[in-house]
Order: sequence, then C-alpha cells, then structure tokens
Amino acid sequence: MAVRTTDQPATYAFGHALEQQIIQLNIQDESLNGRTITVNGREMVNFGHCSYLGLELHPALRAGSMDATTRYGTVYSSSRAYTSLNLYKEAEQLLEQIFGAPTLLANSTSLGHLGVLPTLIDSRDALIMDQQVHASVQTAVACLKGSNATLHVEKIKHSHLEMLEHRIQKLASSHQKIWYLIDGVYSMFGDVAPVRDLLRLLDHYENLHLYVDDAHGMSWKGLHGSGFFQSLCPYHPRVVMATSLGKGFASGGAAFVFPEEAMKHRAQLLGGTFVFSGPLSPAQLGACVASAQLHLSDEIYHLQNTLRDRMAHFAKAARANRLPLVAAPETPICFVAIGQTEATCHLAKRLQERGLYVNMSAYPVVPPGKAGLRITITNHQTIQDMYDLARAIREELDRAAVAKPIGEQAPVQELALA
Ligand SMILES: Cc1ncc(COP(=O)(O)O)c(C=O)c1O
Repeated sequence: MAVRTTDQPATYAFGHALEQQIIQLNIQDESLNGRTITVNGREMVNFGHCSYLGLELHPALRAGSMDATTRYGTVYSSSRAYTSLNLYKEAEQLLEQIFGAPTLLANSTSLGHLGVLPTLIDSRDALIMDQQVHASVQTAVACLKGSNATLHVEKIKHSHLEMLEHRIQKLASSHQKIWYLIDGVYSMFGDVAPVRDLLRLLDHYENLHLYVDDAHGMSWKGLHGSGFFQSLCPYHPRVVMATSLGKGFASGGAAFVFPEEAMKHRAQLLGGTFVFSGPLSPAQLGACVASAQLHLSDEIYHLQNTLRDRMAHFAKAARANRLPLVAAPETPICFVAIGQTEATCHLAKRLQERGLYVNMSAYPVVPPGKAGLRITITNHQTIQDMYDLARAIREELDRAAVAKPIGEQAPVQELALA
C-alpha cells in the first residue's frame, strides 16, 4: 500500500505499519501452543495476545466447547428474544456466582455497550467520559447522542478526579444522574482506574453513577477472577460493569453486571443488540460454562499466581533495562513509550526479526505523537521470555536512540488527546 505523507495521521500510521508488514499478519501455524506464532516462516514469541491466563488451550474449556457443538451444532439461529439454549441460563447463573450480582451475556463488549447504555441513560442525565475510555464505549455514546441531541455529554482529562469532582458539582443541580464512564484497566497503556478515590466520590455524591468497562481486568485478578475493578469494589448499587469474556476468560462474548435485577431485564428486553442480533455460538457457551466453573474453583488462584509471577519478572527486567514504561507495570499490559510512528514501526519490525512479536500502537489507538510498543504478558510465556524481551527492547532502543530515559516521560494523565 502506498503511503502519502499528506494522508490523515491515522491513515498514515496504519498505512506505514502495513507497508512495514507489522500489522494484519497471517498466522501460518496449523495449531497453536499459546507461546509462539509463525508469520512469514518466522516463529515469534507472542507478546500481543490477551488470553492472560492461557485458558484458551485449557482441556476443560476445549472439552466444554466441543461437547456443546456436538450436542447443539455450530449455531443456534434465533434471537434470544424468542428462544435460547439452556447453556445461556447455566452460564449466566455461574457468572452471577462469580460477580455476585445480576449478569447478562452479550455477544461482545462492543455490542453490549450499544445495547445496554440506551436502557440505562435518559435525557435528564449527564454523561462524563474519561478521555481514554475505550473506543467501543465512545461509539455507543455517539449513537446515543445521535438519537438524543439534548443529552449532555462531555469528556474530561484521563483519570483527573479533581476535574471530575468540579464537573459533578456543576452538573448536579441540573441533571438527575451523572454517569462517569471509564475503563477498569486501560487497554493500551495498562494503567488502572483510581477505584478507591472513585468510591469516595460515590459516597459523597449520591447522583454519581459509574459505568465501568473492565474488559482487560477480567480473570487475572479478584475473587473467582471477577476482575480488577471488582477486586476493589465487589458491589455498589450505583455501578454497572461490563467485561469481556474474550480475553482472560477465554470463551468469547461479554458479561454485563448490574446492581439490580430490573436493570438486567430492561437491557435484555429493550437493548437493540440483545433483541435484533443472534446468540453466542454453542461452542462459545460451552467454553463459557467450563471457564466459569474453573473460575469458581481454586485453580483460578493458581493461574493468577503464575501470571503475577511473570508480571513481577517483567517489571524487574524492565527496570534493569531502563525501559520507558508509561505506567507502573501492575497489570499484564505494559506500554513502552516511543513517540513517533516511524520509530515505533521500526522497533516493532526489528523485534519481529529477533523472534519477538509485540503490538505497534499509534494514533488513533493512542493519542497523536504517543506511539509505542504494547506488550501483553500471558501464562504461556516463560520467565526467560520476560528477560529476553526487555533486553532486546533496550538494545534496539539504544541502536535507534529514540526513547527518552525514565523520568522524562510524561505521566499517564498527560497522555491525553489535545
Ligand atoms: C476496554 C475494552 N473494551 C471493549 C473492547 C471491545 O471488546 P469486544 O471485542 O468484546 O467488543 C476492547 C477491545 O479489546 C477493550 O480493550
């Protein structure tokens, strides 16, 4: 693909990455071991996969998926508004034990946001989005605003609670509910929502409500693997949580957790994507039941500990190699700040040539000028892989001389769109 420098920044970033053959890659392996992928004949350790606990290859999930396909076929072709397989009921009951609150399955987190948000919010409410809340939430809010022009929607600086409090005080007298929309774990920089401070604000402002997308927080943290956000806030009457079941949980689909049964029923009855879209496949539902059962057993804690150990080794290796990480490495997502798209593509390509696959991230996935390498840690990787990756990045940074030393990086709050 020809890349013109006159193109829009987003087109340019992806065009450049495509030209460098570091995105849209075709995996040639006929089966996967979880740790490596083969692209263009080269085997690489995969640091771009979000199945953090490695559950996608777990015998119980594979068996659950295959058994459901054998019994129900490849698809059960009807909207849930009419009929659904008993596997749905079984899966939702198990998920309710994990989350301790009414839970609705959705085909994906993105489709779930589109269905759920219009059933929660009305024109008397105000919406405040964190500037870095996931694109799927922002798209759902744009649709909502499209059908309700008077709805008050605004964005504030990333995790800027002073600004949030100021806006709550301004909006409180003119609006019924004030919804603050955030991610639990931010998917690119791997930083986390300031949950404890948000709980304090929830205590103080009784019309504040939270809508939390904890897609990347699921499974590797919390009681029964209920996720990062629930590890600090197990239940709150004014919090609605969305989470992906296609990352740590490894079945596909998404779960929406409501403080009250009535909110769940309203979303299922009236949410467009729940009514007008088909269901999860039997294979996904079978895997979901098996994964939920595993989450409710002690095995989940063993898997969480294994990942925590790898994360600690990567943090140590990153420190030893002075990697310019955007956020403290407290989640399985780490981001090495580079800045320029071209330099980032070059580094990602050099790492691939050394047998290490990481995600190249540039605008609009991250703010303009904040391109970098996004690394995900999973239980499939070895501890040695952590040290090999950190050392290789350091060597390539030195060779390319592009990254600022630690201490010169802007704090994550500053990495916001202008
Ligand atoms: C925070 C967050 N929310 C939502 C999504 C979209 O998830 P889904 O593929 O289930 O629509 C992603 C994508 O990975 C994400 O990172």
